Parts: sequence; structure tokens; C-alpha cells
Amino acid sequence: MDEDGARRAARQHAETARLLGVDFVPMYRLPPDGTASGPAPVAPMAPIIEAKPADVLYQRAALPVGSKDKLKALDALRARYELEAPHKGFVTAFTNIVFGEGDPNARLVFIGEAPGEEEDRTGRPFVGRSGDLLTKMITAMGLSREQVYICNLLKTRPLNNATPTPAEAAACAPYLFEQIEIINPDAIVTLGLPAAKAVLQCDGTMGGLRSRWGNMLLPGGTRIPVMPTYHPAYLLRNYNPETRAKVWADLQLVMDKLGLKPAATPTPPPGNGPG
Ligand code: URA
Repeated sequence: MDEDGARRAARQHAETARLLGVDFVPMYRLPPDGTASGPAPVAPMAPIIEAKPADVLYQRAALPVGSKDKLKALDALRARYELEAPHKGFVTAFTNIVFGEGDPNARLVFIGEAPGEEEDRTGRPFVGRSGDLLTKMITAMGLSREQVYICNLLKTRPLNNATPTPAEAAACAPYLFEQIEIINPDAIVTLGLPAAKAVLQCDGTMGGLRSRWGNMLLPGGTRIPVMPTYHPAYLLRNYNPETRAKVWADLQLVMDKLGLKPAATPTPPPGNGPG
């Protein structure tokens, strides 16, 4: 890249970060001869959270491996979910099952907690206010919604949007694990604590889990890197530079891992935050 290109890229990166509330940008010193070279310094990594190996949540079916077959496998899983209806004992007044959407070949999967009102009405994940913010986060990462896969731990809306109970999470986790095994992404972002705990099969707080890589351990032994971060609904309730910077820092770790460049034309953050 020539010098102008490098300057332009750096400006775009800083602008994207600024729009997501990052009020600091790391400065890299130029070597004495003035040439900008070498990779940017990487922050030291916190230890990896490893899911317990005993977490074999479902009997592994022989999955088709071809990429076209992923769609078929997801459809079959959805049909089985509908038949088995693990939500049948839940306290719920759902209208539609919200199974998930996006590229079955996605390199990146976002996992939320459970559908809300708008998602229940449309049958699509993250299409309400939290969804608008998630879409902006995805765009800021240089991706589109169509390039990622978005789903939830629970596939049906809990009554009054209640937080999933441990029993509800346990009943739905096997389907989520199978969904992820089919997609086999390079990385996962969990949104909020219930999704992080279910995917990593661990306990903890959001503050303790976020900003470091964990592993989702699939029954076949595959490990998928997981970055837990705050749920967009939490971000909307706490729409301040500090929380926004934390989420953006988590997303930047994901971008680094996947080699993503921030959006050239950053999308502005949602309105003025929560009203
Ligand atoms: N919150 C979630 O966790 N998932 C959705 O799909 C929408 C809101």
C-alpha cells in the first residue's frame, strides 16, 4: 500500500472507532529512519477459557460436509427442532420459531439470548432495536448481515423477554451446538451472558468473560474460538463511551483474528442512544 493509501486506511479506521465510541487510538512509534513497517503491536492475550471436555451435548449425526449441504443440514436441524420442540415446557407465548439466518458458510457467527417481540413477530433474529445496533456493529467490522450467521440460544421468545433459565438454556443448547457444528465458523461472538455461558459451558460474569478468547468445544472435538461481549440491548441501556469502547475493543479482537478491515464508510451509531 502506498503512503496515501496507508494514511487513508488509518483515517478510516480511526473514524470507525470514533463512531463506535472509542476515544483513544493507539499510536505506534515510527522507527528512527521514519519508515512505518512491521505489524502493529498486539496486546498481550489473557488466558484462553477452555470449555470442559465432558460437554458432549448431543449424539453427533453424520453431517454432510459439502458447503451446499450445510443449508440442507440446517433445514433438517430446524425440522427436528420443530418436531422435538424443546421449548414445549417453557413459559412462553411465542408466535414464531426464530431459528437463525445468514450465510450457512459464514466465517463469523453471532449468538444472542432469545428472540424479542419483533423477532417473534417476523421469525427473524435481531431485527428490533438491538438488531439495528447489531447490524451497525457488523457493518463497522467491514461485513454485512448476509455474510455472517445470526442466531440465538433460545429459539422462542420467553414470556416478558425473561432471561433464559438454566433449564431452558440446557434444553436448547444441544440444538445450538449442532447448528454451530454444521456452520463450522472461524469464530463466534456471543452477545450477553446467557449465550456466553451456554457456549463456553462455564460460569462467570460478563466483565470476567469478555475481551478474551474462549473455545466452544464441539462433540467431535472441534474447537471454535469464542469472543464474549455485551448484548446490544445492554449497550443501548448503557450507551456511553466506556461501554461502546469495550464492545468495539472486543470486536476488534475478532477482526484481527479474521483479518477483517473496518468499514470504509462507517455507519453512524444508532440515533442518540436510548431515549
Ligand atoms: N435479543 C436477542 O438476544 N436476540 C434477538 O434475536 C433479539 C434480541
